[in-house]
Amino acid sequence: QRLQHDTAARLPLAYMRLRRAIRNVIENGEVQVGHALPSERDLARALTLSRVTVRKAIGGLVEDGLLTQRHGAGTFVSERIVKPLSRMTSFTEDLRARGLNPRSEFFERAIGEVNPEEAMAMNLSPGTQVVRLHRLRYAGDEPLAIERSAVPLSLLPDPGLVEDSLYEALDKLGNRPTRALQRLRAVVLGPAQLRLLRLPIGSAGLNIERRSFLDDGRIVEFTNSWYRGDIYDFVAELQSD
Ligand code: GLP
Repeated sequence: QRLQHDTAARLPLAYMRLRRAIRNVIENGEVQVGHALPSERDLARALTLSRVTVRKAIGGLVEDGLLTQRHGAGTFVSERIVKPLSRMTSFTEDLRARGLNPRSEFFERAIGEVNPEEAMAMNLSPGTQVVRLHRLRYAGDEPLAIERSAVPLSLLPDPGLVEDSLYEALDKLGNRPTRALQRLRAVVLGPAQLRLLRLPIGSAGLNIERRSFLDDGRIVEFTNSWYRGDIYDFVAELQSD
């Protein structure tokens, strides 16, 4: 209804009016970030417009960055997630602050011994036991990142304590990290990662490696995250010396 009303606005071409109408609906929050738009065919039918018109309007909004098209999945309302680099927040806190619904799908949540990479990164001796998490992290139904974490068993005695948020579990134990070292790298995502994140071949990702610590210097986590490059902006405020 809303769309129909707005398409009557005085713009010379039908696709321009539709483009404006869809934009209004998104800006007013009537269709939410991450949500799918009806298919081209359904829109055309509902609005008695040609599919060419609908395609042109949607194409324009994709160029504007307002909509994202994903092969085989449809068209979604996009919004880049802008994340300050200087604050040590958790995935869950970041998303909640944006009114989004953080969720995790666990591939692994178990106790194991540190592998050589983890031992080196965490400065732990071989054989040390850790809780290992491997998760696909969502905002609602939309996958945003893949995350692999290792946490010393001495600081997180049971993997089952992590229901969804690692930091929430650590908080309850009084072991929430207070300081972190982070490295950010551009990466080309591999085929398995692309599939999980539902991205087309060739998509860029951001790999973030975080090592975080307690006040007394003990390491709490070694986490590797692969964020979708099409959605995340990492920003930092800089000061001259
Ligand atoms: C971010 C960080 C990770 C951290 C995670 C905790 O994604 N990059 O290093 O482990 O937040 O998030 P949560 O508490 O939601 O599990």
